[in-house]
Amino acid sequence: MLTLVERHIKSYGGEPRVFKAPGRVNLIGEHTDYNDGYVLPTPIDRYLWVTISPREDDTVRLQAMDYNEWAEHRLSSISYDKEHLWANYVLGVAHSLMGLGYILNGFDMSIHGDVPLGAGLSSSAALETAVVRALNDTFDLGIDPVEMAYIGKQCENEFLGVQSGIMDQFVSGMGEYGKALFVDCRTNAHSLHDLDPDYAFVILNTMVSRELSGSDYNVRKSQCDEAVRIISEENPEVKALRDVDEAMLLASWSKLPDVIARRARHVVTENSRVLEALKLLSEGDMTGFGGLMYDSHDSLRHDYEVSCTELDALVDSTLYLKEVLGSRMTGAGFGGCTVNLVEKGYVDKFIETVSKRYYTSTEKRLEAYLA
Ligand code: GLA
Repeated sequence: MLTLVERHIKSYGGEPRVFKAPGRVNLIGEHTDYNDGYVLPTPIDRYLWVTISPREDDTVRLQAMDYNEWAEHRLSSISYDKEHLWANYVLGVAHSLMGLGYILNGFDMSIHGDVPLGAGLSSSAALETAVVRALNDTFDLGIDPVEMAYIGKQCENEFLGVQSGIMDQFVSGMGEYGKALFVDCRTNAHSLHDLDPDYAFVILNTMVSRELSGSDYNVRKSQCDEAVRIISEENPEVKALRDVDEAMLLASWSKLPDVIARRARHVVTENSRVLEALKLLSEGDMTGFGGLMYDSHDSLRHDYEVSCTELDALVDSTLYLKEVLGSRMTGAGFGGCTVNLVEKGYVDKFIETVSKRYYTSTEKRLEAYLA
């Protein structure tokens, strides 16, 4: 099979340059980013690659090597491509850049990736990050990494219609393999933290995929906004759920419709869990860290209601394995993956054991990856 570069040269000629960006797994801090909260993801060793060569005109020619599909557009008339959904991640980034006043020329681009799609491992953010890197370099735009992340987010929010937060693009652009990236999604303050080498984060893919553009994600976001609206009536300093603590939530509880109250409780407690998890990580208390992962899953399952039968089955199947310290769904939910904190020496046996159990209970074969 031709490599991505060979394919680019064969299709377009030119001397392409190559850019890549990784997928991610979120260790803890789910559905907190768009509430101005805290997250703790890490990149995974799987990537989206793009090759690029600039053109003299304003034509954009794109090919998705893995699908053997092509798309062609003009920068001067970019619009959503209903036929080639993958092309919209490139078009949306170009659209955001031009909207911000950056000057682009046309370009030829080929795309290839090994981040599993629709699995909650941020293949889309990886593609956006690789594309913004490629355009930044090719057209000498001088964009810093934080702004790059926000350009990817803008592509999601405005071009693709998903009201997602900043976590995925932030970690794809600024994470470091083997380290957790703590991000304060209000201030963009961020820091890298070593992971304990005696443990592995094992990702298990339920193989149930539910597209993020699904309205469920946007519904959660508007439920959080509704909670803020009600709580801020008596607490005008509250601008986001990040500003709410457990005491304040309790005081407002009776004013909140049941569903809204439970959504808010997830976000408020999850933010505390991230701060606690970060502290435990620095103290080397991985048992405590794992306990918080289980608590996070319970909260996502019962209060935020973004889990599903398959994710719950996988988490539950780890409960009696003493070598597994924690397990939770990761990413937006409604399918996708769990992340599991496992003693290094037990990883192979762990994957074998849960795969069998999962097949027996669901008749589905899972895939496993290491963070
Ligand atoms: C998706 C979004 C992120 C974040 C997670 C849930 O991955 O893109 O911004 O909200 O879901 O934590």
